Amino acid sequence: MPKPPMVLFVTSEMFPFSKSGGLGDVMGALPLALHKMGVPVAVVTPFYGRLSTRDFPLRLVTEHCPVNYPWPGVQAEIYQADYHGLPVYFVARAEYFDRRMYYNTHNGDYFDNCERFIFFCRAVVQWAEMLERPVAVAAANDWQTALVPAYIHYLRQEKPFWAETKTTMTIHNLAFQGRFAFRLFHHTGLPWDAWHMDRAEFFGDLNLLKAGISLADAVTTVSPSYAREILGPRFGYGMEGILTKRQAHLHGILNGADYQVWDPMRDKYITATYSAEDLEGKKLCKRAMIRELFMSDLLEDKPILGFIGRLRRQKGIDLLIEILPQLMKREIGVVILGEGNLRTEAKLMDYMEIYQGRLSVQVGYTEDLAHIIQAGSDIFLMPSRYEPCGLTQMYALRYGTPPVATAVGGLMDTIAPYPSPAATGFVFPRPEPDLFLRTIETALSVWEDKKAWAAMVKRAMTQTFTWEGAASEYLELFRSLGAEI
Ligand code: ADP
Ligand code: GLC
Repeated sequence: MPKPPMVLFVTSEMFPFSKSGGLGDVMGALPLALHKMGVPVAVVTPFYGRLSTRDFPLRLVTEHCPVNYPWPGVQAEIYQADYHGLPVYFVARAEYFDRRMYYNTHNGDYFDNCERFIFFCRAVVQWAEMLERPVAVAAANDWQTALVPAYIHYLRQEKPFWAETKTTMTIHNLAFQGRFAFRLFHHTGLPWDAWHMDRAEFFGDLNLLKAGISLADAVTTVSPSYAREILGPRFGYGMEGILTKRQAHLHGILNGADYQVWDPMRDKYITATYSAEDLEGKKLCKRAMIRELFMSDLLEDKPILGFIGRLRRQKGIDLLIEILPQLMKREIGVVILGEGNLRTEAKLMDYMEIYQGRLSVQVGYTEDLAHIIQAGSDIFLMPSRYEPCGLTQMYALRYGTPPVATAVGGLMDTIAPYPSPAATGFVFPRPEPDLFLRTIETALSVWEDKKAWAAMVKRAMTQTFTWEGAASEYLELFRSLGAEI
């Protein structure tokens, strides 16, 4: 019997195997949501040294996937895991992927990132051909995988295997484009036709994301607002031109939240579960967090503000640092979980000494602490400069921790701002410290009004951003491209 055509997701991270941010969460949930709708799905991702395989054992399926890069004869090993019924393939090549981090260290990006992901994308195409299973849609995510739609664009003309395949390029973060020196264009194996300002060329450099954006059948991004924003220079990072050319094929599909993992009613990392109807557990979670982070017991009756995210300008951590001294004049606590920039980490640690017991800074990447802080905080801080979608604010809503956020991207699409009667959080128009501080003050004054606060918490907790909804939108898009699934 012929094998049914599948949707092949290509990604550089997938929770729970690998994750450095929201992309991992998305890839742990979207393919599964489609799979549950009866769509045949598979995922391909790198086999990193730091792969978490505890719940999903891997088996070697071949040692001989012929990648022939960087020179003839070079092969990849392919491993497979069964993730709730859908196959996940891992491309292994130790010298590229068996490292401590995924993309970079504190000293910057790995010097051979271009070669690493050229190798990966070439392997994906080779492995798909070896599987002999028709690929109805190849769905690429971010620059690391952007060569896949580019390769398929040219392969369609040569190989019957790819003739019917449709491709999508999903942008999770336009600031990361995979921009490299021109000489690496030759490594990609793309034909000269691709060396063009409407394709892979970007101010004389090779730009992998641009190759994907220009050559995929459709381009998607992770919220409707970001899909609009990236058409202009403020959020376009130089890609606004090519994106405007492709505007008719650009779609904003809002991410969902995986409530199997992020729901205080069933969260396995928190001290007590709770729901919108019964918030007793949230108090216990707050107490437990205070103890665990060695914060002052006096904070039990005071508001605690939480921040979770990469310590980068994108996330507006510098804005938070700037207002911290003024903020700490109030009777509040602040908890920060993040990693990513040595100078920022050091600055925050200095502040932690000054505001002992009221400011807790947790440097590192710790999945369980992220849950503990979502549940244990009262107000969630998200002063992002740009935010393609943002998942942490969706989680915060579900955990009854109304966010204070900038009015950008997906934050606008997920938070109903105070003082609307439907408010679930607070937003401020521009990433400026004064506006941020004033908006936190507004949030603190609403917090004082126990009745108004309880009503807002309840509204926040009953918001639902399902993956089923997002998956249906993706499916509709795939079918509109002519994919036979
Ligand atoms: P982004 O992808 O831009 O980093 P998102 O809000 O989409 O932002 O997703 C961030 C994800 O990464 C969330 O699951 C969040 O809990 C997690 N995360 C971010 N920083 C940390 C950290 N230091 N420790 C644990 N989890 C983190
Ligand atoms: C990126 C974005 C974030 C988004 C995530 C998942 O990392 O910065 O806003 O939620 O991808 O799509």
